[in-house]
Amino acid sequence: MTDSREATGGRPMKPEVEIEPAFDSHRARHQNSARDFWIDKIRIRPVWAQDRQRYLEFFRSLSPTTNAFRFLAMKKRLSEEELTYLTDPDDTSHVALVALLNDNGRDRIVGAARFIMLPDGTGGSDHAELAVTVADEFQGKGIGARLVLGLVLLARKRGVQAFVLYASPGNTGVWKLVKRISDRASRCVEGGVARITLSLS
Ligand SMILES: CC(C)(COP(=O)(O)OP(=O)(O)OC[C@H]1O[C@@H](n2cnc3c(N)ncnc32)[C@H](O)[C@@H]1OP(=O)(O)O)[C@@H](O)C(=O)NCCC(=O)NCCS
Repeated sequence: MTDSREATGGRPMKPEVEIEPAFDSHRARHQNSARDFWIDKIRIRPVWAQDRQRYLEFFRSLSPTTNAFRFLAMKKRLSEEELTYLTDPDDTSHVALVALLNDNGRDRIVGAARFIMLPDGTGGSDHAELAVTVADEFQGKGIGARLVLGLVLLARKRGVQAFVLYASPGNTGVWKLVKRISDRASRCVEGGVARITLSLS
């Protein structure tokens, strides 16, 4: 068994991801800035089933505000089933990436993002729901943008035409993130929830 297979418990290792080229312009805006320092330290790859413990630590590290913004209401714990769902997507209708920081020789998850294909009748069969979270102390360093742009590339390859994101109306950060990476985004508030649509076509 190769080293990489050992790291994934015998399964073939999912490769690191490319970042959608639009990121180049995002990156250019931050060239030589403090953020550039972080971009070079963070690795983005698909989540692995072996990330369970790392993912749990990431979830537990979230502040109440970040947790509530991600789950639309404070989520106190993850069940074993939820943890399996979050760390073992099928990579077809559910694709997830994690941002990793090597912390004294140990990989730590500092961000996660996923898209899940929406069933027909809930926004279009070529639409996918997007969710993204960055650990509090790592917000504002360009990690959320990198995760979303990594998903944009993977989604385009699967024929996804648009991402739909549900957020609390007071969550201005995610709307700014979406607007920063694309001008093809719209936002409306329905039933107390902001629905953000990001066109990928
Ligand atoms: C929203 C979130 C994912 C953004 O991730 P991030 O890594 O902090 O964002 P980035 O550093 O990549 O910022 C990208 C752009 O968005 C804007 N932005 C992001 N968060 C912002 C905030 N709170 N306030 C103002 N602008 C913000 C920045 O202007 C930035 O543009 P720039 O790079 O040109 O300066 C992160 O704040 C988070 O995890 N929030 C809690 C969970 C959540 O709200 N998820 C969305 C619903 S699923």
